[in-house]
Amino acid sequence: MNRGLRWAFNTSIWSPTKEEWVLACSCIQAEEKERISGFVHAKDAKLSMGGRLLIRRALVQLLGLPNTAIKLTRGDRNKPELVGNDNVQFNVSHDGCYVVLAVEQNRKVGVDVMQMTRRVGASSTAEFFRQMNRQFTEREWQCILREDTEKSQLATFFRLWCLKESYIKAIGRGIGIGLQHMEFTLSPLTWNQSNTITGSTLTLDGVVVNEWTFEESYLDNEHCVCAAVCCHDNNSPNKFIEVNITDLLTSLKPLHTPNQLDYDKYFTKL
Ligand code: COA
Ligand code: MG
Repeated sequence: MNRGLRWAFNTSIWSPTKEEWVLACSCIQAEEKERISGFVHAKDAKLSMGGRLLIRRALVQLLGLPNTAIKLTRGDRNKPELVGNDNVQFNVSHDGCYVVLAVEQNRKVGVDVMQMTRRVGASSTAEFFRQMNRQFTEREWQCILREDTEKSQLATFFRLWCLKESYIKAIGRGIGIGLQHMEFTLSPLTWNQSNTITGSTLTLDGVVVNEWTFEESYLDNEHCVCAAVCCHDNNSPNKFIEVNITDLLTSLKPLHTPNQLDYDKYFTKL
């Protein structure tokens, strides 16, 4: 594989049937099924399930192995990893109604998706920005607040958020890295729903980090996404491809016997 893989799954158009949910639960590892059954809201269970299915479906395709031969674990700081093969790197992210997956071979990769309208726990955008003050540097805040409308300020906020998170998730270090040491300069390129741009750059303590590429795009008019990759050897960035539940469940063989009770647990969350 010389190109990476970028998949997006819109969970808002998936209302799991009993058969689909039971099959999905049987295709993931027991501890992940257990974790997902612990979510209070069906929406969160669907997003997290989507992530597991995306990973498994992609690995089946890339490695040419059956689902039953794929063993996943969680490494340092909970990051999902493939057991017995360090060459394939992958990462998932979920927010709003999307789950996304980015896969690379022999390259570090991290991905983050954000719904650009969401202001969790704040009554206004100004209040939200106050709460998030420490997430960005002074220069990054200038870049956000320079925008004319509240909507475009939020869009720039979440764009910078995705850039930071995608890098943090790629290196697997968590926000312990110190957000004030990282600073992004946004690409001036025009960005719309049909292109992917890579001109944004990262500096760490003032030093430009050249070996990383940040692929930014929109999934729709509400969700922005960024994949951070080290080190790219081509200039044409990957585009996210939409996959649906049939694409995901096709060619995934159960790891254990399907259990009808899994749907009952899901149904109580609805
Ligand atoms: N590194 C990379 N990926 C990780 C990870 C880690 N340490 N831990 C979990 N993941 C994967 C998992 O697949 C997880 O999904 P799952 O639990 O359903 O399997 C997925 O990433 C979650 O990613 P996302 O949906 O983007 O969640 P998040 O943005 O809420 O959290 C963290 C991402 C946990 C990895 C971490 O970066 C974090 O704590 N962020 C805090 C937010 C913040 O302040 N960010 C600053 C941005 S300016
Ligand atoms: Mg995130």
